[in-house]
Amino acid sequence: MNVAVIGTGHVGLMTCVSMAAVGHRVVGCDADRGKIAQLSAGVLPIFEPGLAELLAEQTAAGRLSFVEETADAVADAEVVFICVGTPPRVDGEADLVAVESAAREVARHVRRSSIIVEKSTVPAGTAGRVRTVVRRELSGRAGEISVVSNPEFLREGRAVEDSLHPERILVGAEEAEAFATMREVYRPFTEAGALLIETDIATAELAKHACNAFLALKISFANALARMCERAGADVVSVTHVMGTDPRIGPDFLRAGLGYGGYCFPKDVQAFERLAARLGYAFPLLGEVARINEEAVEAAVEKLRDALWNLTDKRIALLGLAFKPETDDIRFSPALALAERLLAERASVVGFDPQAMANAKTEVPELELATDAYAACEGADCVVLCTEWPELLTLDLERLRSAVAYPVIFDARNALDADVLAAAGFEVLSMGRPHVAASPTERSAVGASRLERRGA
Ligand code: UDX
Repeated sequence: MNVAVIGTGHVGLMTCVSMAAVGHRVVGCDADRGKIAQLSAGVLPIFEPGLAELLAEQTAAGRLSFVEETADAVADAEVVFICVGTPPRVDGEADLVAVESAAREVARHVRRSSIIVEKSTVPAGTAGRVRTVVRRELSGRAGEISVVSNPEFLREGRAVEDSLHPERILVGAEEAEAFATMREVYRPFTEAGALLIETDIATAELAKHACNAFLALKISFANALARMCERAGADVVSVTHVMGTDPRIGPDFLRAGLGYGGYCFPKDVQAFERLAARLGYAFPLLGEVARINEEAVEAAVEKLRDALWNLTDKRIALLGLAFKPETDDIRFSPALALAERLLAERASVVGFDPQAMANAKTEVPELELATDAYAACEGADCVVLCTEWPELLTLDLERLRSAVAYPVIFDARNALDADVLAAAGFEVLSMGRPHVAASPTERSAVGASRLERRGA
């Protein structure tokens, strides 16, 4: 089928490559001409494992191309995915200006009956707005455009896998033909086992927000528990492990730490609360989810203050700056929120991240960056693990021990094995777990080199 994709951010790019990978002819376009030039030259604007290879493969196969003008992208399209950004406005609602103008442009230039698919995360009711814009634009012209909601569930860092092998596909539509076309678009995925869920449009729009808000709620629940565990002398990792063994709760998204970040959860929780208010329903639970999330960074600052006394001039090494591992995305990264808080306390903050350093520098220019994890830890009063990149979980402890000024590690993601660290001579702070004093042993003098948490 002929597919057009408007917007080549994370969701848009993944839509481009995955649709091409199953055999559709895909044209991507973006208002940012620089991005189109980059993509046409095979250069990726973001880091995502496996994406560069897939992009090269699909463009070489002639199934995927990028153009500057919407008119060129949509001219022959049977299905047009709108994947433009919906950033938060100052009042917390999603800014839908880009969605409106993309819909208008598509309606203006499409030359055959087609379907506009909103894939950007949008508040319930957006499809109705899009439909009105499209109808006005089409008035008097031949051809029909249906509007469909098809929210994206992919996770950054695993986006290639998620878009090539989605577990579920959600399609909200009103017309039988629209459902039929979407079934055709997604047939290769459903034949490979993906679950297709069909609903009305408002349900699909709301379900996407509900999923993200609920996952954020689980994380905030774990973080609130961490605060309680700290006061009660309990271990949040064990508490959430117990919870997770109840199949009604499930183990996922119960990792306490620095809190959630990224471009989805923070903005979606806020937008969902605003939407509820606009619909006349107060949903303050969502505000609490966001508040507890911010509290996690504050709790980290307090822990550092506890451990180091005055923060002024203390050298603090932050390992991991991206909002989660396997991405260079630093948007709403708790690691950078912590960096900013520590800089405001006049600490000397140095960071390292395997992929996100350039983005981190743009976001927090005062942040000093190191060439690798060991260089970051050189002379540090405390090392903080902010993002659990696999390579940061397997550092050589002897090297680390000789780099730091004082052997204090703050595992702000509860991702390390405190006993191994303690045995290697480190004092260990965590989130919602008892502090562990250094207890060097004979064995550790030889060098225990793997830091990963065991079990739990
Ligand atoms: C999320 C949703 O998972 C995805 O379905 C949606 O399409 C977009 O938003 P993403 O933002 O890529 O995906 O990241 P995710 O893996 O969900 O993690 C979000 C944040 O929560 C990260 O900062 C992560 O570190 C944090 N997190 C996750 C926790 O703090 N604890 C957990 O238990 C899980």
